[in-house]
Amino acid sequence: MTVLELVDVEVTYERSDGTPVGAVAGVSLSVNPGEIVGLVGETGCGKSSLARAACGLTRVTAGSVHFDGRPVRPLGARERAVQDIGLQMVFQNPYSSLNPRRRVGDQVADGMRRTKQRDGQRLTVETLLERVGLAPEVARLFPFQLSGGQRQRIALARALAARPSVIVLDEPLSALDVSVQAQVANLLRNLADELGVGMLLISHDLAIVHEVADRTVVMYLGRIVETGPTRELWSRPLHPYSTALIGAIPTVGTVGRLPEALIGEVPDPAQPPSGCRFHPRCSAVMDKCRSIDPPTFNQGDGRSMACWLAGPDHLGRLGESRGQWHPS
Ligand SMILES: Nc1ncnc2c1ncn2[C@@H]1O[C@H](COP(=O)(O)OP(=O)(O)OP(=O)(O)O)[C@@H](O)[C@H]1O
Ligand code: SF4
Ligand SMILES: [Mg+2]
Repeated sequence: MTVLELVDVEVTYERSDGTPVGAVAGVSLSVNPGEIVGLVGETGCGKSSLARAACGLTRVTAGSVHFDGRPVRPLGARERAVQDIGLQMVFQNPYSSLNPRRRVGDQVADGMRRTKQRDGQRLTVETLLERVGLAPEVARLFPFQLSGGQRQRIALARALAARPSVIVLDEPLSALDVSVQAQVANLLRNLADELGVGMLLISHDLAIVHEVADRTVVMYLGRIVETGPTRELWSRPLHPYSTALIGAIPTVGTVGRLPEALIGEVPDPAQPPSGCRFHPRCSAVMDKCRSIDPPTFNQGDGRSMACWLAGPDHLGRLGESRGQWHPS
């Protein structure tokens, strides 16, 4: 059963001069129990806007978001924490989301108290800290006494205290050292496997997504361009953007970096290119790409992509853009 479901979601901001910015332009995705869905894409492509919309922290201008079959209503962060505790969000910088003047154990306990009211069962701060790999003594410390990795573990423990079925994580690892990133990534995988928590994991770090995500969703300029099981998508990306973004399976040397093969920048979402939004940067571009937006083509085996190369007229060219990304 799908726990978190987004259908045709749009998020449009308004700049101070009144210009609309279509940060998310019609995205559908779902997160199932125990599944980690990795969301990747360059900076500015709408990942955070989508994450916040999924949790009701940003207003959805069109489409729908459902969690456990109920619509997710737009709420402030504080209301969200109280009302929809089954859906939690963990941000990049846990320091800003933890109260600097309260002991971390008390902050973890806040979530537990709400949970007790809900299902009558009691977790303890100690079991939650153990769950995220921290010693019980940490409960007595204040956030400033913790390392970045420990703070992010506390943010996770606090989220877990609410017994969530889904956690949306927006760049949860990017403030951490590389060695700590790997540990926290393993922790996420264990939590998904052992507690059955579904996760929408946004990360610039392609290696982490490759390592822990069951499914990968590739986003470009407000749209999903390709999705599929991580293993298959990474070993054979189909969409020209995924091919450029993912290229080869990441190695230690490429950890955390976008490939140099991606030339140019993501265009301004207030003025998206006509037709396929990727066409000004695509080496496989065809005439119709410039004027007609490609639909999403189902590729079977849980894979789909929005690119004319997957259409009936061009199937022979699918995947041929691999390795053609360096400008001559
Ligand atoms: N409140 C806002 N008002 C206007 N434009 C916004 C607002 N928030 C985000 N945007 C724009 O929406 C687009 C998507 O932003 P978003 O933060 O969702 O991208 P992102 O993929 O999370 O990027 P990053 O990888 O840098 O975190 C960007 O062009 C950004 O400038
Ligand atoms: S639709 Fe055309 S421009 Fe867009 S990614 Fe596919 S080949 Fe490139
Ligand atoms: Mg972001």
